[in-house]
Amino acid sequence: MNDSDSLLPREIVEGLDTEVLGKKEIVHLVETDSTNARARELAEQGAPEGTLVVAERQTQGRGRKGRAWFSPSGAGLYTSLVLRPSMPPNEATRITFLTAVAAAEALLHLTDLNVRIKWPNDILVNGKKIAGILTEISTGRGGVDYAVVGLGMNVNTPGFPDDISEKATSVFIETGERFPRAVLLREYLRQQEACFRRLRTSGFEPILGRWKELADSMGKEIRVRMLENTYEGWVEDIDPEGILILRDRQGISRRILAGDVSFV
Ligand code: BTN
Repeated sequence: MNDSDSLLPREIVEGLDTEVLGKKEIVHLVETDSTNARARELAEQGAPEGTLVVAERQTQGRGRKGRAWFSPSGAGLYTSLVLRPSMPPNEATRITFLTAVAAAEALLHLTDLNVRIKWPNDILVNGKKIAGILTEISTGRGGVDYAVVGLGMNVNTPGFPDDISEKATSVFIETGERFPRAVLLREYLRQQEACFRRLRTSGFEPILGRWKELADSMGKEIRVRMLENTYEGWVEDIDPEGILILRDRQGISRRILAGDVSFV
C-alpha cells in the first residue's frame, strides 16, 4: 500500500466535515472476513451511530444473495457503517437507495465518470459495476434496532478474476489513474450524511427522485431474474418502497422486490 493511499483513521478524519458518520469510532483492519460482520458485532455491543469499519482486504467480502465481493488488498474501499435510524423495518430499503445515491454522488463529485445506478443497488460506470451496497438490519420491538450499511467500491483495482472481468470495473481502469481512497471515503460519508439529513427533513421522495435521475433503467426494456422466475418488460416506475414496477408485453404490471436486472 502506498502512503498517499492510506486509509488509516488519522488520514480519514483529516478534513472530514461530517457531524456523525465517521466521527465516532473508526476501526481500521488490515484484514478481516467481512467489514459488515465486524460492524454487526460492534453494533451488537452497543456501538453508536456513525461507527465506521474499514478494511484493507476482506477474505469473505459478501455481496447480495450470498455472492462474494472481490476485495484484494489496498485496492478498493471495503467499508461498513453502523446506523441507528428510527424507522420501521419495512422502510429499511430506503437506506440502500440513499446509500446508492450517496456513493454515486461521491463519484460524480470527484471524477468525470459517467456514473449510473442499476436497481436495486449497483453503481455502474459504462455499464460495468464499480460499487455495490449490502445493508443488513436487526430489528427490535421499536423498529430497526441498528442497520449496517456496507459499501464496496473498486477504486484502484487493476483487474478482476475472469468470471467477473466483463462485468466489473474500477476508477483506475476507467481513468488510468490511481485515486486516493480516503478522499473518496470522506466524500461518500459527507454525501451519505447529507442524504440522511434530507430524509429526515423532507422524507424519501427527494432521495428517490435523485435515484431515478441517476438510474439507467427507467422506461427501458429489461429482464429480471429472480430465484424461481424470470420476467421481461419495461420499467414503469420504482415505488416509494423501492419496489420495481415492471410492465410486460401483455400489459401486466408486476411489483418486484428483488432480482438481477439485465437489459434485453
Ligand atoms: C453487492 O453488490 O452485491 C453488494 C456488495 C457489498 C460489498 C461490501 S464490501 C464492504 C462490506 N462488507 C461486506 O462483506 N460486504 C460489503
